[in-house]
Order: sequence, then structure tokens, then C-alpha cells
Amino acid sequence: MCKDLYSEIDRDRFRERSLKYTRKAFRMLPKLDKPRILDVGCGSGVPTLELAKLSKGEVVGLDIDRSLLDELNRKIEVEGLSNCVTTRKCSMFEMDFPDESFNVIWAKGAISVIGFERGLKEWRRLLKPGGFLVVHAETRRMLDKLERVPSFGYKLLNQFLLPEDTHWTEYYRPLETRIKELRAKYKNNPRALQILRKHHYEIDMVKRNPKKYGSAFYIMQKL
Ligand SMILES: C[S@@+](CC[C@H](N)C(=O)[O-])C[C@H]1O[C@@H](n2cnc3c(N)ncnc32)[C@H](O)[C@@H]1O
Repeated sequence: MCKDLYSEIDRDRFRERSLKYTRKAFRMLPKLDKPRILDVGCGSGVPTLELAKLSKGEVVGLDIDRSLLDELNRKIEVEGLSNCVTTRKCSMFEMDFPDESFNVIWAKGAISVIGFERGLKEWRRLLKPGGFLVVHAETRRMLDKLERVPSFGYKLLNQFLLPEDTHWTEYYRPLETRIKELRAKYKNNPRALQILRKHHYEIDMVKRNPKKYGSAFYIMQKL
């Protein structure tokens, strides 16, 4: 029941709406020949798969959550991408890849787990010389952090803001509509309603202040 309900909610359908920003950020990188990309905190891999298609390179999706990686593995199979996308269950605090393993490290919505400064410092060794770090993060308290990017051994090449309420209009609002439909469908099923309430709690938080979660992409290069 639970598993079916998650696939009925199908959050990835709404996540796909923000792929236009993934594409925009990727196009800000110079042309790369079959790069090796690490997607840190890849989740169920909506951007991971897009990166594989855009780059024609090799992508490693890393996340701590086994169930999200199972979902990504299923999609890799379905899309026939197993020769270019692999997954790794591991914490971003414990990544043991050899030095200079990747041309690009991508972190969409995940660097806050480790912290911007620590992420930049610890992940630098994994990048090849001149490699790129692309981060999508909330803009709150970012100005002084960006000033210190060179002291962490990177150059800030580019950045762009996402529309302030994009979180709400492109993800949470359609998700809310979907949950409303499912509440009606399962109105006589207390277990399903309980799960749907949990999903709604997250929506309520964003709804209270849809513009609070302003975010941007930052494109950096290892010096
Ligand atoms: C906001 S989601 C972003 C998912 C994906 N990048 C996307 O844009 O669809 C953050 C992800 O970070 C993962 N995460 C949280 N703590 C982590 C850790 N210590 N190591 C690796 N991944 C972690 C979560 O499991 C989740 O999938």
C-alpha cells in the first residue's frame, strides 16, 4: 500500500519541471568531452539522468537513502542508461573516491547537509585539475560565503537565481493538487490518509512563505 501510494503521488513528475534549470546550469559549463560527473545527494535521480543525457559522459549518483537509489536504479534500467549511470549508497561525509576522480561535481539541493564551506573544502580533492563544482542552494546568507569561494580554491564562474516562488509554483502547488485528489480517492482509508497528511505538512510549511526559499545555481571551477 505504502509503496503504491508513493508511486501514485509520483513526486518525480513535479521534480522534472525544474530540469530547465539543470539544463541552463549545464550549458554554462565549457564543452566537456564525456565527463565523469558525481551527483552528490542525487535522491531519486531526476537531475542525475538528465546530466547523463546532456553530457554523454558517465554519472555516479550518490545518496544515503537506499530506497531513493532503488528508485533511481529502476529508472536507469527502464531508460537503458546502465552503461553510463551508476549509483553509490554512501554519505557525503564519507566519500572515499580517489583524488581527482571527477570532471564535475553536481549538488542540487544537497550541500546544506554538509554546509557550503565544508562541502567546497572536502570535495575539492575529488575534482580533476580545472574541474567544476555546480551547486544549487538557498540564497539565504550566501553573499559572504561567495566572497570566500577563492579562499576554498575555486573561481566563481557564473550564477543565476531561480524565480523566487519557483519552489511553490513548479513543485509544491501541483503536489498539493495531487495530494488533494488522493485524499478524495482514499477518504475511507485511515492509513493512506495518515501518509498523505505527512506529505501535506511539508507543503504547509512552504505555503506559509512561498518566497522564503529563494535559491540559485552557482558554477565554480577548481583553481
Ligand atoms: C533535497 S534532496 C535533492 C535530491 C536531488 N538532488 C534532486 O534535486 O532531485 C537532498 C538529498 O540529499 C540526500 N542526503 C541527505 N543526507 C545525505 C548524506 N549525508 N549523504 C548523502 N546524501 C544525503 C537525501 O537523501 C536527498 O536525496
